[in-house]
Formats: sequence, structure tokens, C-alpha cells
Amino acid sequence: MNHFDIRDGVMHAEDIPLPRIAEDIGTPVYVYSRRALERHAQAFRDGLKDVPKKHLAFAIKCNPNLGVLRVLARQGYGADVVSGGELERALAAGMAAEDVVFSGVGKTRAELAQGLDRGIGQFNIEHEPEGVALAEIALRKEMTAPAVLRVNPDVDAGTHAKISTGKAENKFGVGIDVAPEIFGRLAALPGLNMRGIAVHIGSQLTSLDPLEAAFERVGQLVADLRAAGHSITHVDLGGGLGVPYKAEDNPPSPAEYGAMVARVTKEWDVTLMFEPGRVIAGNTGVLLTEVLWVKPGAANPFVIVDAAMNDLARPALYDAYHDFVSVTPTGETMTASIVGPVCETGDTFARDRVTDKVMPGDLAVFRTAGAYGATMASTYNSRSLVPEVLVDGDRYAVVADRIAAGTIMAAERVPDWID
Ligand code: LLP
Repeated sequence: MNHFDIRDGVMHAEDIPLPRIAEDIGTPVYVYSRRALERHAQAFRDGLKDVPKKHLAFAIKCNPNLGVLRVLARQGYGADVVSGGELERALAAGMAAEDVVFSGVGKTRAELAQGLDRGIGQFNIEHEPEGVALAEIALRKEMTAPAVLRVNPDVDAGTHAKISTGKAENKFGVGIDVAPEIFGRLAALPGLNMRGIAVHIGSQLTSLDPLEAAFERVGQLVADLRAAGHSITHVDLGGGLGVPYKAEDNPPSPAEYGAMVARVTKEWDVTLMFEPGRVIAGNTGVLLTEVLWVKPGAANPFVIVDAAMNDLARPALYDAYHDFVSVTPTGETMTASIVGPVCETGDTFARDRVTDKVMPGDLAVFRTAGAYGATMASTYNSRSLVPEVLVDGDRYAVVADRIAAGTIMAAERVPDWID
């Protein structure tokens, strides 16, 4: 069941007609469904039913809204964070510090100290000097930092190059070949409790094969580390499971993913940690927008909407596909390019796409916008920062205000030495 469906000719988010939100809040605006978030959180957990010891840490980079995080905290999710800012959000949303995992390729010393002060559950060490720095800081605080070493298994995730993280040439983790020696040196440091391994090979994965290949390599590494006398109690398998962006997309389900994980890790005897992001949040949100103009083009018309690349960056950044559908579809279609008002050609959501017929003043949505949507928004072209709404049955709340261009400007000043 989809929580954004057409009832009486009008798209609803759960029981709220989207035109009501547009009228109350204005457009563009992100709209999330609480029920969808809860359903996806449960489906991912159910998928892992054959994994006895597990910890679920929502990758909050994909949707760090406090309202969204609170929903997931109530579902028993912790957080995977990649900055001090995300760490504070996870705690503010009510996630327990011990349920927080700190990933991130360039943590600062201040962020490592912050993680220790907050008492987070695990640091995912990206390379040896970071581990050495963490050990020093922990020792100074008379603490022991729970940590795992992130390895780069050198597998091709088969996804967009900009969101691939597990090939040797990517910046993430340490090569799996050198991992045993680095692990050994870090494990000898007072201040660190090196308890396992982490891996994350990329995002929007539409096949389980590269994940399985990566996990097999990690399994071998765990066996090697144990043979060398190390105690391995935790393995973090990262996130990455893809979601359908088009009706015909058929990525592996959480149940298929979970079955593969249970099979591959059967003998590991560790607590498995997961960092799902998109698979939880992607299909729980839409970006609601109004059609401003329809303008003739060389081949097909341009549908100019009031959302732009600053609100939803994925098409401009990764040529990503987001379904564009009318809030009040008539059944008629048109072939058009869907573009935003920003002054560059990259501000194109869809080129020459067969889509619902829309006219100026109509409302429409970009689907699958609950992950890597609002969180990647900017104020480029001095546009406002896009607001967010969370729907729960027949009620909704604004969970992030629209931040007006004037508010952003008010934080700037002209130095008095420019006359
Ligand atoms: N864990 C780590 C260490 C990660 O780097 C990521 C995502 C995740 C977990 C969550 O991955 P997911 O389950 O969401 O695939 N902005 C891009 C996606 C960037 C992903 C970055 N890392 C996009 O819009 O497609």
C-alpha cells in the first residue's frame, strides 16, 4: 500500500489532501508520511528476522529531520552519523547515545572528543591515524573508545560512480589486504577497544551480488583476525539497499537482503550492525510543487515548476530519476521537460518525459523524495530553504520551517571598511 495515493481524483498523503498542505504552507514543500516510515522501519527489521544479534542505525544523512528521527527512534532505531551536527540531532531526537555509530571519512579531533563526551556506542575508524588520534583523546579523558575498522573490500557496487564507496580507488576505509596489520596495531593501543570491522560499498544498490561479495571478504577477514588472537564481537554491514524510483524498478527487498545476510553471516557469531538510509526513508516522502508556466520548447514544452535543483539536487547531481505526477491527474499525458527556475540548464528534473498533463497553477509531486531530498537543499539563487511537513493520519505538522531568503541575508554583513 502506498501512503501517497489518489482519492476522489486528488493525491493524499495518508488522509490529508495535498492541496490543503500547498494552501496552508505554500510550495515547494517536502511531505513525509509517518505510517510509511514506520512500515519501512518494520519491514527492514522483519527482513533480518534470522539475524539473532543486530543493531539498527538509521543513516541520518538521508533525512535528518528531527520529526522523522523521532519516529524512527520510537521504532527502536539508533543512528549512523557522520558529523558532530548529526550526532547532536540524533540525541535531540531521543536516540540513546549508545545506539549511535560515528562513521565519516574526515572526522575532526573535536568531533572525536564530542563523540566520547556524549558516550556514543561505536566509532567506525577510517584509517590508522584517525584511530591513533581517537586513542590519544580517549586516554586523556581516561576513557576507552569502542571502535571498529572500516575496510574497503574493492568490489564494484554497480551503482552511480558518485555514490560508490567500496572500490580500491574510493576514499573510504583501509584496503582489506592491509587491514589485519592496521587492526593489530590499533588493537594494541590503550584507549581503544577494537571490537570489529565495518564495510559500506555504496548506495542505491540494485543487486545483492556486490554486497554478498563484500560480506564474504569481511567474513574471511574476521576469521583471520580471530586466528591472530583478536576478539571480534561486532561487524557493521553499512547501508546501501536500493529502492524503486520507477514503477517497473525491482530492487531486492529487505526480506531478500536479510536472507542473504543471514546465510552469509551464519557462522560469524557477532552482533551485526546495519546503517540503512534510503530503504527506510526514500519512498516515505514527496516534494510538492506548483506548475508556474508551460513554455514551448524546440521539441517539447518546458514545464516550469516552483521547485528547483536547490530543493531537490539529485537529478542535477546524479542524473537521478524521480517520478513526476500530477496531484489531480486527468488521465491525459504530455511529453515535456520538467525544469525549475534556477538559472542553469542543470536545473532539469526530467528531459522529454511522458508525464501527466499539467497546466500553470496545477500541483504536482516528485516521488521518492524522502531520502537525500531536503537534507541536500541549499539556498542557491537566493531561494528560501525548503520546508518539511510530516503527516500522521488526518493530522500534519510543519517539521521544518521555510527559511526565507531574507533570514539568510540577515546573517550576512558588509564590513564597514568597504566604503
Ligand atoms: N553508511 C555509510 C557509511 C554511508 O556512507 C551511507 C551513505 C549509508 C550508510 C546509507 O546508505 P543508504 O542506505 O542510504 O544507501 N546523496 C546520494 C547518496 C549518498 C550516500 C552516502 N552514503 C544520493 O542522493 O543518491
